[in-house]
Amino acid sequence: MNKKTNPEIKILPDKPALAAEAAKRFVLLAQTAVEQNGRFTVALSGGSTPRALHELLAQTPLRDQVAWEKVIIFWGDERFVPPDDADSSYLMARETLLDHVPIPSRNIHRVPTVGITPETAAQQYTSTLQSVCGESVPRLDLILLGMGPDGHTASLFPGHPEVVNPSEKLVAAVTNSPKPPPLRLTFTYKLINAAKNVIFLVAGADKAEMVKSVLGEETAVGFPPPAKLVQPSNGKLLWLLDKSAAQQLPNQ
Ligand code: 6PG
Repeated sequence: MNKKTNPEIKILPDKPALAAEAAKRFVLLAQTAVEQNGRFTVALSGGSTPRALHELLAQTPLRDQVAWEKVIIFWGDERFVPPDDADSSYLMARETLLDHVPIPSRNIHRVPTVGITPETAAQQYTSTLQSVCGESVPRLDLILLGMGPDGHTASLFPGHPEVVNPSEKLVAAVTNSPKPPPLRLTFTYKLINAAKNVIFLVAGADKAEMVKSVLGEETAVGFPPPAKLVQPSNGKLLWLLDKSAAQQLPNQ
């Protein structure tokens, strides 16, 4: 049954507090998933905001509160660059988190980006997700997302085919990302909205206008921003905002 729940919105004083809240939620969700299902499947996000979250998870005390051997890592989107490229979200996650926790390398499912076309990579990653999760439409325990000032999330950008006319694909290739680099892979809404938990991490005054149009009451003129279409059909949606990003919401 599709039950779209209203998002939970939590506003934190600043970026460090945002990261701390996100880390707390990550640990709680990981402990619950491992307790109930013996593992925790999570898709990390690219961008700069998740770095502070990763760094908190990579150090005590939180580091020791997660059963890393039972954590399965994917990426909700990835820049189509080699894994040692400065733009790689995989590299950022390795440097800030994965190289500092006892997670088996077999649990880390990097998006294939070398010696392959984006379209083939999207098909391959779809198969990986399906076989690791054992479901044709995987219901990940947690998908972490960011949002750009233009309302993009993962690599779902305004006006792009997967936003204007979402397909049945789980992972799509993007060839014209307005946020460099242009070549990317991204989870689609079909995969994102199947998740048990989706958490947005959004900070900074430059996003306040878009936060208002995504979370505010008024109906946005024109096509909704990509982030607004993230509405888990049978899962929880949490927006973690810092005060700067939330400043245009009512009662701020
Ligand atoms: C990426 C991300 C992208 C990011 C937003 C926010 O590959 O960059 O997938 O969607 O989450 O652009 O980025 P910041 O966290 O740097 O503001």
